[in-house]
Amino acid sequence: MAIPQSFLEELQARTDIVDLVSSYVALDKKGNRYWGLCPFHSEKTPSFSVVPEKQVCYCFGCHKGGGAVNFVMELESVGFVDAVAILAQRAGMEMPDTKDGQDTRKKRERLRILNKEAARYFHGNLSAPQAQNAVAYLNRRGLSKRTITNFGMGYAFDTWDGLIRAMQKKEYTKRELLDAGLAVESKTGTIYDRFRDRVMFPIIDVRGNVIGFGGRVLDDTTPKYLNSPDTLIYNKSKNLFALNLAKRTKADRLILTEGYMDTIALHQAGFDSAVASLGTSLTEDHARLLSHYTQEVVIAYDGDQAGIRAAQRAITILNRTGLQVRVLRMTGAKDPDEFIQKYGKDAFQKLLDASENQMEYRLLQLRNQYSFDEPSDRVAYLQDAAGMIARLPSPVEREIYGGRAAEAAGVERNTMLAEIERQRGKQGWKQKKQMERKALAPAIQAQPKERQLRERDIKSACAEEGIISLVMADPVLFNQIQELDVNDFSSSLWRKVYQEARNQWQETGAVHLTTLAQVLTPEEMSRLTGVLQKPQVLSEAEQAISDYSSLMQRQRIKREVTEDRDILSLRNRKKLEEP
Ligand code: CTP
Ligand code: MN
Repeated sequence: MAIPQSFLEELQARTDIVDLVSSYVALDKKGNRYWGLCPFHSEKTPSFSVVPEKQVCYCFGCHKGGGAVNFVMELESVGFVDAVAILAQRAGMEMPDTKDGQDTRKKRERLRILNKEAARYFHGNLSAPQAQNAVAYLNRRGLSKRTITNFGMGYAFDTWDGLIRAMQKKEYTKRELLDAGLAVESKTGTIYDRFRDRVMFPIIDVRGNVIGFGGRVLDDTTPKYLNSPDTLIYNKSKNLFALNLAKRTKADRLILTEGYMDTIALHQAGFDSAVASLGTSLTEDHARLLSHYTQEVVIAYDGDQAGIRAAQRAITILNRTGLQVRVLRMTGAKDPDEFIQKYGKDAFQKLLDASENQMEYRLLQLRNQYSFDEPSDRVAYLQDAAGMIARLPSPVEREIYGGRAAEAAGVERNTMLAEIERQRGKQGWKQKKQMERKALAPAIQAQPKERQLRERDIKSACAEEGIISLVMADPVLFNQIQELDVNDFSSSLWRKVYQEARNQWQETGAVHLTTLAQVLTPEEMSRLTGVLQKPQVLSEAEQAISDYSSLMQRQRIKREVTEDRDILSLRNRKKLEEP
């Protein structure tokens, strides 16, 4: 494609090569040149120079160089047009309509229609004689016909190509079925239906597009649920099940559940503000999405240990976006669906009304950890509760919860309040120290030897680095990382890179360093380019990714256990016991 000369000229005028290069490489000015470590080859002393006057760069080590466009072409391994597009984006210029951009837009549109057709097909299947068992199953789960229609539920026949044949009749290609995640390719290259003999839950975005599916088995076999993989149009970490319905609710709060069935059961019982996360723990994107529709979220997760843990994590994430949080406490049933089946909707309404705000919830969790038989238990509880309450920014709230915690522990209210203020002073000091340390971070970062040490969890960080280098080399691998959550990353740098790269991949179908350069500091960018220079063995990538991810998930659990222990501040307790 020919790009008009006038466009290129304006692009040149708007692009400063020093600016561009320094978003990848830390540069030092010496005379009329800038010097830095060459991004094209590994080196320890700078031999890469940029000459602003001429708007060129050159490496005296590996002899690569050129203008801004060459620099991007080389660094991103892209062709001329792509390099121009990258620079245009950077300069805030609209590309003259390129064929590529249009192609992705068309592809997405096709996938959306394909998903909608598939949903229609699955739903239609319910009237077929082969769907007898599925219909019986849905009835057994207490779902009315109306609910089934409202949610557009359906059934995938127990065949290998039911959907494929139906969609091929409508002229969808093998490629499109694979891209939509509706079909899976076998080793021999034939494709078969991903969902077989499952009841189907279409996942619909807030604009009403069908973007993916969850499919549940009719019995106890595993996996219980199969879900669409992330595709050009679907990302489970950014979408919530039933938000398309819940966004119209008149209720003041949205109810957040863990499961499809919980949310559906709630809607059927009249709680039309329920949504579910899609088989992944809550992300910041989810929280942001929720915050567009409500100011308060009630967490109605499963009552088991895993649910409690997930709720605690969700509280933190939701709070970060400024959402108010309540936590619903359920006993006598494992999840909201079961609760409503057993006790009815009025009982659930009572739970909602009684749902505790997060501080009450946390205090209660804490109280359950102590028996209060021993005076030392009481002291320990008082210490820990004070530590939690001390973090509340509002004095009124500190007063209220301080009072309650004092009552629970059977100590004087004033003793409790004094302890809260004492711990508050200490925390303030800690925060200040943390901030000082942060301010020093860039300096520390500049020391290559210290870098490794700065990671909070070196083991995990190495795996994270591995994942990053693989997906940057071949972004298609993003499609294989189903289970990975941004919160599995311990390193803030790798988390940021992963998140950005994944967004880009989903939005544009490619990942470019230049766009990453906009969100990373030059030091961070140097580190990234350094990692990307290491050779990659892509033939083993899938296995490697899966190994890295499970290591990261194991490390994350380890970290959380230690953090929880810290919160329970054994150290404080010791101090108090000392005479
Ligand atoms: N999930 C998943 N894959 C699995 C199991 C669960 O994606 N193998 C996701 C689904 O989104 C599911 C949610 O995690 O809805 C919660 O799981 P679970 O509580 O086991 O399922 P329920 O929704 O309660 O479904 P059911 O009542 O049918 O067992
Ligand atoms: Mn359930």
